[in-house]
Amino acid sequence: MRSVRKAVIPAAGRGIRFYPATKTIPKEMLTVVDKPVIQYVVGEAVDSGFTDVLFVTRERENIIESHFNHNEELAKLLVQQPEKDLLKDVRHLSQMISMSSVVQSKPLGLGHAIQITEPFLEGEPFGVLLGDEIIISGVPCMRQLIKVYETYGTSVVAVQKVDEHLVSNYGVILGEPVGEKEDRIFRIIDMVEKPSREAAPSNLAIVGRYILTPTVFQTLKGLSPGTGGEIQLTDGIRALLKEETVHACLLEGSRHDVGSKLGYLIANVECALARKDLGFDFRNYLKKLRL
Ligand code: G1P
Repeated sequence: MRSVRKAVIPAAGRGIRFYPATKTIPKEMLTVVDKPVIQYVVGEAVDSGFTDVLFVTRERENIIESHFNHNEELAKLLVQQPEKDLLKDVRHLSQMISMSSVVQSKPLGLGHAIQITEPFLEGEPFGVLLGDEIIISGVPCMRQLIKVYETYGTSVVAVQKVDEHLVSNYGVILGEPVGEKEDRIFRIIDMVEKPSREAAPSNLAIVGRYILTPTVFQTLKGLSPGTGGEIQLTDGIRALLKEETVHACLLEGSRHDVGSKLGYLIANVECALARKDLGFDFRNYLKKLRL
């Protein structure tokens, strides 16, 4: 079985739900506490053992890659400051993983964003981390998926249970547990992108983390636009079910959709509470709020 080394981070969405903040900056560059969202996502990729990451961006001159680039002038300036380690985390990430980008110039959907990454992946299985979702977990989410991939040798999608009235925001799977002991792992029978509450096959919603075998490029090629007039990755994986087994893994951790305003606010609270330097004071502040 080939190991999973390369990760794709789609970050070319228009971020319309977050206008005007995202009129000129990608939503993946919005700040959660003191880091852009994308830094949390790349951190998860590094912690999961990926060696290469490809960003799918909407513009060639992209501020996402330059966020991780070394800036000699800035580094010199910071050495003279008492807080000279302020760039330590971002420097560490760019040393740990090789980064490149590809441009998706038209908003043709997540499936299309994945399609254009095929040359970078060179026939290898690969990870996909949606760039606007932060997942806080003991074992990094992508590592949880890699473990399933290594056990079964199949594509794997991360899922979580959501309230029934929210299913229409997600891709939703129909799955059967693979065994009594493994109640977190399902063999996927069917999946549908953003179903109505009535049409949803379950409340197991796809969160933005996937391991995919390269066969998905063949199934994506035959697709017509789906929900929202876009080429949907869910439809590509649904077509993959006819060729190969695909598993779902129930995420152990909490997931925050930073592209929604409420998700963004919650992510800030959760990430601030988890911080050694801020958590104590922030918790005391929250306790004093008379809500
Ligand atoms: C995408 C996927 C969807 C998935 C969701 C997770 O939708 O198409 O299947 O459930 O991400 O956030 P989007 O949120 O980009 O519309």
